[in-house]
Amino acid sequence: MKSIASPAELRQILKEWRRDGQRVAFVPTMGNLHAGHGHLVREAGKRADRVVVSIFVNPLQFGPKEDFDRYPRTPGEDAALLESLNVDLLFSPSVADMYPRGRDSSTLVDVPDLSGILCGEFRPGHFVGVATVVAMLLDLVQADCALFGEKDFQQLTIIRRMAEDLLMPTEIIGVPTIREADGLAMSSRNRYLTATERVIAPQLYATLSIARNALLSGKADYATIEAQGRTILASHGFRPDYFTVRDAVTLQVPGPDTVDRVILVAAWLGRARLLDNVRV
Ligand code: PAF
Repeated sequence: MKSIASPAELRQILKEWRRDGQRVAFVPTMGNLHAGHGHLVREAGKRADRVVVSIFVNPLQFGPKEDFDRYPRTPGEDAALLESLNVDLLFSPSVADMYPRGRDSSTLVDVPDLSGILCGEFRPGHFVGVATVVAMLLDLVQADCALFGEKDFQQLTIIRRMAEDLLMPTEIIGVPTIREADGLAMSSRNRYLTATERVIAPQLYATLSIARNALLSGKADYATIEAQGRTILASHGFRPDYFTVRDAVTLQVPGPDTVDRVILVAAWLGRARLLDNVRV
């Protein structure tokens, strides 16, 4: 595996691969890789001749009071995992490489319909930061496809819409969430859970499953299902930001045209803000 930091070098390597007719798959990450990332990389390997992974903890997507400084960074372990998965190229740019004018003077990308709702309501500016960095990375790599986990369902929806709106050539692929044996969705932020909280955490997925069963049994009173979900979570010690049933394409409240529904949750447990979702 080749490991580089320079965007210019990345462009040069990609240019050569493309000239040789090689198909490229890309997995953008913020590092602190776990089995969920490993799964994304393996899926990428099935779809292309070359796999590129980026590791960049993107300051633009963290609010001023959020965990940018203490976000777990494990570059040595990450590189060893990616090497074992036969990744061809690891791109780890510095903040100065990505934002040479500083974060306040950078050009931004916004997906206005989708970035202010759900998590966007609780983390203002977060999805502008995500869309901006992903647009930059997709432009640098010019991959045939890029893979993102469905655990971050709103993020995936925003990236799909951005790629469509900006006529980007890269196919955006969502990969189903990888879970621990007890149902907890894998996430770098699970590290913030204490041992006691880790025992409680699977109740997030269990509560989503209760709501999904209610919908599948024909109940369509979303307000009641959502209120029940929030009550169950609170009874386990979570502090839910939201627990809501949405149209899986528009992320709006389901309407007569809705084909697929998704139940989305964001809830705090101690100092960890956990996200999860289930499709219905
Ligand atoms: O999901 C993540 O790890 C990040 O939000 C992403 C997509 C790599 C952008 O920084």
